[in-house]
Amino acid sequence: MKQIIANWKNYPKSFKEVFGLAEKIERKLKEINNDINFVLCPPGVFIRDLAKEFPKINFGSQNLFWEEKKICTGEISGKMLKDLGCKFAIVGHSERRNFFKESDEIINKKIKICLSNKIIPIFCVGETFEENKNQQTFSVLKKQIESGLKNINLKNKEIFIAYEPIWSIGTGKVAQIEVLKNIRDYLKDIANLKGFNKVKIIYGGSVDAKNVAQILNQAGFDGLLIGKNSFNFKELEKILNNI
Ligand code: PGA
Repeated sequence: MKQIIANWKNYPKSFKEVFGLAEKIERKLKEINNDINFVLCPPGVFIRDLAKEFPKINFGSQNLFWEEKKICTGEISGKMLKDLGCKFAIVGHSERRNFFKESDEIINKKIKICLSNKIIPIFCVGETFEENKNQQTFSVLKKQIESGLKNINLKNKEIFIAYEPIWSIGTGKVAQIEVLKNIRDYLKDIANLKGFNKVKIIYGGSVDAKNVAQILNQAGFDGLLIGKNSFNFKELEKILNNI
């Protein structure tokens, strides 16, 4: 089964638009026979209404607070998300690492909160353009994974690791399939070494209808994290047709 995560970021802007888009997606998912687990991660304010209207879609949050008990203005806790029906949460996305200065330590705490609330973390890792150019990709990934998963026993726990090279997000650039395959194998090896038996390795960054089949079938990823093409129904439809 392929894992398809739609990361709507801060789009679409109104509930009317969000509802229309979710309706089309639900219809499309019913129409295609592919073995897909579709996870919709809309802006947080829309999760509750959408989850009520579309019980067949799985929902995920784009973020969550890294503390369970601390009082904090503006934050949403793991328990609240669980109560809304969220089964997944994106953690460690590069936009949050960069714009909100989220450290590996915070990401580690967020993963722990997910797991203690039985929310599957979609843990994003990936290198910058500079790091890629300087051939530091593997060492960056190793460090991000080791610190993000520090002191976490993942035996029998579900987790998705999303390889999201920062230079690929929203740019239309994707690494060569052979390179992606090596990275997938590397991530899988780290996971196996650490005894994660339920880990899924997915890919995110400029996924489109032309590269989707290669990423899944040749590079061997278990799924995709799709940003901008997941809130453009025409593009998403083409991607789903090509899985
Ligand atoms: P993109 O974004 O598909 O627009 O490149 C991916 C992401 O940010 O998760």
